[in-house]
Amino acid sequence: MSSEVTAAVYSPEEIQEINERLKVRPAEEIVRWASETFGSEIAMASSFGAEDVVLIDIIAKVAPKLRIFTLDTGRLHEETYDVMERIRVHSGVPIHSYFPDREAVEQLEKEKGFYSFRESLENRKECCGIRKMEPLRRALSGQKAWMTGLRSAQSVTRTEMAALEWDEGNGMAKVNPLIAWSDDQVWEYIRANNVPYNALHDKGFPSIGCAPCTRAVKPGEDIRAGRWWWENPENKECGLHG
Ligand code: ADX
Ligand code: SF4
Repeated sequence: MSSEVTAAVYSPEEIQEINERLKVRPAEEIVRWASETFGSEIAMASSFGAEDVVLIDIIAKVAPKLRIFTLDTGRLHEETYDVMERIRVHSGVPIHSYFPDREAVEQLEKEKGFYSFRESLENRKECCGIRKMEPLRRALSGQKAWMTGLRSAQSVTRTEMAALEWDEGNGMAKVNPLIAWSDDQVWEYIRANNVPYNALHDKGFPSIGCAPCTRAVKPGEDIRAGRWWWENPENKECGLHG
């Protein structure tokens, strides 16, 4: 697939036209296209869930210069730090970590305690704002695009998403190479390529976020049922993706 002229802004028509071509392409080619199109001005966001370890493996193989970052919220599971380290060593690509602003966390914990996110949707969004959104803004500053492991099959809030999107909030393109992948495809890739994965996946966690806001799901339950389980499904986004 030929590369595009690097665009700072895409029109809805351009996005639709590019998506028509990307949707029939394997993830490897979408990653390569993104890397050629945006060069050093694209970065991949990784939380080291099953999709993200697949994507990092693909990046290491076809576009090893593509910058990879993680938002280390300070509230992650031990198993997540463990897979972060195993992937770092396995893939050989640098992982750039972004930590929340120290004073903002100190202030939040002093004013509202250590579990304020359980008390209301507003408080939960405040915590995600401090621990994820502000570091994300720093991670994306100066970029023209970012890449994620989002998949349509993950959630009712994600069914309409495509491989290339215009992210209005961040004023840049968002590339989702695994958007059309099924759960089975993700796990087949992990097994076939011996990719290290988060041990929590074997303990009933299909989707993994911060430790206090994620729990295991029962067989047959929705993939994201264990994320912010006390909230309504339509609220279950932290702001990273709308
Ligand atoms: S979330 O919005 O509910 O937290 P989810 O866990 O499904 O998102 O992950 C979707 C994608 O968002 C991941 O594939 C990854 O690209 C990005 N992402 C989520 N959490 C983080 C994080 N802590 N650091 C970096 N990227 C993240
Ligand atoms: Fe805070 Fe929970 Fe959001 Fe993590 S997922 S930033 S702990 S509210």
